[in-house]
Amino acid sequence: MSESIKILGIESSCDETAAAVVENGRNVLSNVISSQIDLHTLYGGVVPEIASRKHIENINYVIKKALDDANCTWDDIDAISVTYGPGLVGALLVGVAEAKAIAFAKDIPLVGVHHIEGHICANYVDNKELEPPFVCLVVSGGHTHLVVVNDYGKYQILGRTRDDAAGEAFDKVARSIGLGYPGGPKIDKVSKSGNPHAYDFPRAKMADNEYDFSFSGLKSAVLNHINVAKMKGEELVVEDIAASFQQAVVDVLVDHTMDAVKKTGLKKMAIAGGVSSNTAIRKAFEDKCRENNIEFYKPEPIHCTDNAVMIASAGYYEFKAGVRHGWDLNAIPNMKLGERKY
Ligand code: KG4
Ligand code: ZN
Repeated sequence: MSESIKILGIESSCDETAAAVVENGRNVLSNVISSQIDLHTLYGGVVPEIASRKHIENINYVIKKALDDANCTWDDIDAISVTYGPGLVGALLVGVAEAKAIAFAKDIPLVGVHHIEGHICANYVDNKELEPPFVCLVVSGGHTHLVVVNDYGKYQILGRTRDDAAGEAFDKVARSIGLGYPGGPKIDKVSKSGNPHAYDFPRAKMADNEYDFSFSGLKSAVLNHINVAKMKGEELVVEDIAASFQQAVVDVLVDHTMDAVKKTGLKKMAIAGGVSSNTAIRKAFEDKCRENNIEFYKPEPIHCTDNAVMIASAGYYEFKAGVRHGWDLNAIPNMKLGERKY
């Protein structure tokens, strides 16, 4: 009989309280996500203290439901994996303290997981045949990383953003054209009826590292365009602004990533993180990879934005590699990918 290792994953690094049970890193037995988006929308973005308070209210219910949905008791769980960084410190601490308490009380192994590693591992869940090595573009609200996944748990960072993350740019531009929070899905939607070539917004390339990203110039160009239009009394064509902004992001992401794929000589690439649920980004990568005979992988949209399935999957590979954390596990809000702290 093949082995069955069941991991309970816990995620609370930002504004989703999530728990999931995943078998052997790839088979989802349950996926529970309690989103706080409606609450933070009132303030136009995530309010850290409110996020922590909501996590502490919800986390027990979310975990109980994840176990029930998976038809599991604590005796069936081989390890608990939890995001311990990067993220909002107060939010992370709720998940970490909960995971430690359960691991202590039930004598279950504890495995801390890097949030971005989780995003990357979402690809294993939805693409059962995917194995490293491959290139992965991670684009979320807090991160933009171009990574070579050399093996399970082994990452080499080729490039990262110098300023705003891609999702942050989506959120800020959306706010400036009156679409509200969270901006990504709203820009995605209105762009469908806009002209992506209406305005030629800048595509930044860094002289000293061609794989690094910068989105602050793009964001400023959009804000500038809006101010000039307002001063001239011109009507803002929200759909065209959104679509042209989105096209600039798509071009930069595809351009940098395909260059990296060519340089590494790898024939596989994946995308991950909340922004990778964007329909224009998914289509652009699909087309480009087909043209270049590169196999393209992406998680289902529900596994792109924050969830605990990805944390349970990453936890499985760390667990198999022998990683165990002790009772002193702490939150590391600015943890780097590949940096392992015990
Ligand atoms: O991965 P995620 O849930 O949280 C972080 O780890 O940051 O990503 C959230 C980000 C937000 O900035 C949100 O606007 C963006 O992902 N996002 C999108 C889309 N859906 C979510 N951006 C563009 N298009 C989307 N469809
Ligand atoms: Zn995330």
